[in-house]
Amino acid sequence: MAMDSTKFAKKMIARADEFAGMMEEKVYHDRTPLSEARTIAMLKSQMYREYYLGVLPPAKQLIMIPDSEVSLKVLITRQLCEEFLHCRVLSDRLEELGANGDLSAYEPVEQDVGMYALTFEFQTPWEIAASLQVFGETILIATQKWMIEILDPRSAQLMRDEILVHEGSHVRNGRLVLEKYATTEAIQRRVEEVGDRKYEQICKSYGLPMFKTFDMATGRAG
Ligand SMILES: [Fe+2]
Ligand SMILES: [Fe+2]
Repeated sequence: MAMDSTKFAKKMIARADEFAGMMEEKVYHDRTPLSEARTIAMLKSQMYREYYLGVLPPAKQLIMIPDSEVSLKVLITRQLCEEFLHCRVLSDRLEELGANGDLSAYEPVEQDVGMYALTFEFQTPWEIAASLQVFGETILIATQKWMIEILDPRSAQLMRDEILVHEGSHVRNGRLVLEKYATTEAIQRRVEEVGDRKYEQICKSYGLPMFKTFDMATGRAG
C-alpha cells in the first residue's frame, strides 16, 4: 500500500540526509585547503553542474508539470533562475582568478557527465525531483558546506552568500513535487530507486576520489 505522500516526501528527505551524513563521514572530513589549480578546476566543474544539472532538469520538469499547477511551476521557475545566477557567480569568480569562466570552453569530465545524465534522463517530474531536488540538493548542501571550509575566503563567501543560501528552498520544491505526485506504491518505489542510484553516482563522481576529480578537471581545456 502507498504511504501518505506527505509522509513519504519527509521520509525521502530524511533518507537523503542520511546519505549526506555518509558523504560527510567518507569524504568531507578531509579539510585540506584547495590549491589554486584545484580551486579553479572545482569552480569550473561546479559552474558546469549549476547549468547542466541546475537549469536543464528543472526546465524539463516545468514542461512536464501541467499548466494548472501554477504555484509549483512558479517555484521551479524561480529555482531555475537562481541556478543560472549560481552559474554566473562562478563564471565571474573564475575570471577574477584569471581563469576562463566561459561555460562553453569547459570540457566536462566523465564524473560531470555521469551526474548530468542521471539528473536529466527522466520522463516524469517526480523522478527528476527525486534525482535533483530531494537527493541531489540535500547532499549538495553538505558538499557546499565542505567547499566553504576548503576554499579561499572570497570564493567561500560567494559560495555561502550567493549559492548555498538558495539550496534549502530547492530541496523544499522537491518535497512539494513528491507530495503532489508520489501517491502510488509504484511511484514511491521508483523514487527510492532513483535516490539510491543518485547516491551511488554521487559517490562515483564526487566520493573518495574527489580530489582526483578536481585534478582531472584541471587538465581540461578552457
Ligand atoms: Fe545551484
Ligand atoms: Fe539548487
